[in-house]
Amino acid sequence: MNLRSQLELRLTEAMAKAGLSGNPLVQTAARPEFGDYQANGIMALAKQVKRNPHELAQAVVDQLGASDLIENPEIAGPGFINLKLTSAYLGAALRASSGIDASPHPRTVVIDYSAPNLAKEMHVGHLRSTIIGDAIARVLTALGHQVIRQNHVGDWGTQFGMLLTHMQESGANSEALADLEGFYVAAKRRFDAEPEFAERSRAVVVGLQSGEPKAREAWQRFINISLSHCQSVYDRLGVLLKPSDVKPESAYNDDLDPVIRALREKGLITESDGALCVFLDAFKGKDGNILPLIVQKTDGGYLYATTDLAAIRYRNKTLHADRVLYFVDARQALHFRQVFAVADAADFKPATMQLEHMPFGTMLGKDNKPFKTRSGGVAKLAELLDEAEERALAVVSGKNPELDAEEREAIARMVGIGAVKYSDLSKHRTNDYVFDWDQMLSFDGNTAPYLQYVCARIRSVFRRADAHGDTAADLTPQHPAERSLAIQLLRLQEVVESVATEGLPHYVCAWLYDLATKFSQFYEQCPVLTAEADDRNRRLVYCRRTLDTMELGLGLLGIQVPQRM
Ligand code: ARG
Repeated sequence: MNLRSQLELRLTEAMAKAGLSGNPLVQTAARPEFGDYQANGIMALAKQVKRNPHELAQAVVDQLGASDLIENPEIAGPGFINLKLTSAYLGAALRASSGIDASPHPRTVVIDYSAPNLAKEMHVGHLRSTIIGDAIARVLTALGHQVIRQNHVGDWGTQFGMLLTHMQESGANSEALADLEGFYVAAKRRFDAEPEFAERSRAVVVGLQSGEPKAREAWQRFINISLSHCQSVYDRLGVLLKPSDVKPESAYNDDLDPVIRALREKGLITESDGALCVFLDAFKGKDGNILPLIVQKTDGGYLYATTDLAAIRYRNKTLHADRVLYFVDARQALHFRQVFAVADAADFKPATMQLEHMPFGTMLGKDNKPFKTRSGGVAKLAELLDEAEERALAVVSGKNPELDAEEREAIARMVGIGAVKYSDLSKHRTNDYVFDWDQMLSFDGNTAPYLQYVCARIRSVFRRADAHGDTAADLTPQHPAERSLAIQLLRLQEVVESVATEGLPHYVCAWLYDLATKFSQFYEQCPVLTAEADDRNRRLVYCRRTLDTMELGLGLLGIQVPQRM
């Protein structure tokens, strides 16, 4: 039940009857006095057909008339049309809708997200891709699309030489690798200080690349340990990623030669200083020189881009993707533009298969610089989550001293992790944002704890009512606050559809916060428990629907809701 599409449909019909075709541009009303939605498209169309916009709007309004859906449509300004939904329609729509309707055109969507480099431990730089990608995976799944998660982890490259050498020579077991970051630093220190160690490391890389069993076996052991670190972070974060979603860079090794061959056959390869490059006119700089995409180094080694080209072939041929979404740092924008253009030029995918880089900005500290630990190091993701849970425990214990320790800890996990995720997801994806503990753990404003608290409060209404509302009740809103709440509940569908298209989870957050606000206004203005039978019944159903819908919305973000708070 997408309110906006319903209105769009009606408007388009009325426009056709008035001899007009085009997009009515239905949007949520800028101000409540403009109704619920407004159609902004008439003005541009009037200009196109050189007619007076007000007259044209009048012709459309005459065709529209008052209906089951729209109360008297009105013209505002030079040719906007204000649209107000009828209460009867809202009541019926609330009754008919539940949850999210599946898309009539389900597609196969690959979501490439998280993708840490396994040589090191996951750090805060991996947070955004992991949780934004996961939210989009959940939204697309809810809309009935076939979602394939792909964790394109970096498990190949020269750094593994020094790590494996250090692992073998220090007799390191999984315990020694518990601090992967420390292990990396130690290996790197030896690599830089001891020429013979560096020499042995390079030999290990050669062995690895030529498939020597001993090197392979050590590498696999290291990779497994590193992946289990990642999995424990995923489990704590409550993201959907599983070991079977891992499709590492090394998985494409066998297709790298064929990729180069295919590029050569298409006449796309140019040799430049011994390296193999693809030059496309689209990447011509101001100086007239074309920026190349390097696909094979002088020493024969392949690059990040080569693997991404192979991954596109796999996602087309084997996964049959209609759409591939890459949740990767904005700094890789040029890489993806080039890789996508080369994939097109080489016919590695049909034109109908959409490749979309979904870039995101940087997480900053309060000093507006990239987020660091107090000592100035790169913050490990696991430690950030520890701190989130500790801080949340302090807040939760302060507010609920009567709960036993176990319950408080369980609540603190949901609040702490929820706060970290929500504060990120609620910002526009492409912006940088400041990571601020006090703000995200506040019970006021657009935060996870606030929304979780509103849910707990609604639950307490049911405990006191000892009833859930009779679902057979007539749900037609009878009070302005009920009306706004009803519309907000029904907007979920249009919000998730926009998120699915644009990959912007903050739409869900803004909608959730609005919903919580509208619920609070409703609860202040419309007594529930003390109301007469019909009002009480209907309002209890409104409470129920708000709770269910908020939990659904938070669930789309991968955020859990405690029973009590
Ligand atoms: N491992 C890469 C990095 O840490 C991210 C991979 C993103 N996905 C991709 N298909 N390139 O920068």
